[in-house]
Amino acid sequence: NQLEIAVESLSKGPYAHFMLKEIYEQSESVMNSMRGRLNFQTKSVMLGGLSEENVYTINSSRRILFISCGTSLNACLAVRPTFDELLNLPIAMENASDFLDRQPHVFRDDVCVFVSQSGETADTLRALEYCQKKGATLVGFTNTVGSSISRLTHFGSHLNCGVEVGVASTKAFTSQIVVMMLAVLRLSDDSRRLAPRRHEIMDALSRLSADVAECLRMVAPKVKALAQRLLDAKSVLVLGRGYQFASCLEAALKIKELTYVHTEGINSGELKHGPLALIDENIPVIIFCTKDAHIDRARSAIQQVRARKGKPIAIISERDEEVEAAADDIIQVPQTVDCLQALINIIPMQMLAYELAVLRGNNVDCPRNLAKSVTTQ
Ligand code: AGP
Repeated sequence: NQLEIAVESLSKGPYAHFMLKEIYEQSESVMNSMRGRLNFQTKSVMLGGLSEENVYTINSSRRILFISCGTSLNACLAVRPTFDELLNLPIAMENASDFLDRQPHVFRDDVCVFVSQSGETADTLRALEYCQKKGATLVGFTNTVGSSISRLTHFGSHLNCGVEVGVASTKAFTSQIVVMMLAVLRLSDDSRRLAPRRHEIMDALSRLSADVAECLRMVAPKVKALAQRLLDAKSVLVLGRGYQFASCLEAALKIKELTYVHTEGINSGELKHGPLALIDENIPVIIFCTKDAHIDRARSAIQQVRARKGKPIAIISERDEEVEAAADDIIQVPQTVDCLQALINIIPMQMLAYELAVLRGNNVDCPRNLAKSVTTQ
């Protein structure tokens, strides 16, 4: 089965580019990442790398420290709130290159988690070696069996999302979120207090493949029209907070690496501390306004943009009068559970980056100056 997935991944099929194929593969790849690991009936998670002993090691550690780069770091950011919520542990995050520059304290009872699609990223690998010398427990989440990171970590799990050919990561990002969600569900499975919340997340995971397929269908026409509108943009801002902070950073990374247009992901709570000065009637501003506990703050962000003559583009998951009145354009996506919504919300952004790159005549699968795996520091 793994061989079939790998062989299937290596042909473009009816798609013009590998990236487009990998965007559309996501309704299937999220299911492949869960296959044999999540029993929807018994509501139990079995992850090869997370044996009873390894679960105990993590739960009795001093902290969990995620160390990664680029899109993989954004995937860690997307799941951090759920690790914070379901585990009684401090959860920290480090960009691998900055971590190496600072050479911070790492302890034997730290659990260092290395997330890497290729499993060969030099900065992440060097950070792993640093933590190895400190005697920490090393956990790996990679998509490449036999890669350096998967071999050098004490235990971990593979994404099982098939080979990702496009340099701009898409299905690996969504599968990283799925597999790390499975991990935090496994790590918290002894908590009776958290059972209702855990079951809510598992139910959402059982609907995820259908939600992704529905999202792909819903957003495609709107995104094509939006790409035409943004074609001559010189700069783009993407705003998000809470569960959607990772979404705004990942959306910005996708747009900049594919269209070569300066794009910035900003935590909308930071707007008034400077970035608001960027807002005028010319700069496109995309704002995540999908339904969760922070929706009022998202509404306030869109009002702040509107009040400065901005023309916000809102990503919503439910009809919302106030947001729709303030927005210049709306893209609606399916609603899932709050801690998985980022996985749905990134799909229109992946598509937007793709459509803009095609319109600009860029090399979509191999954007200029970039490599699929950054094996030099
Ligand atoms: C993402 O689209 C980029 N290709 C890049 O940021 C990538 O995520 C980063 O280099 C990390 O790669 P890895 O997951 O293979 O370690």
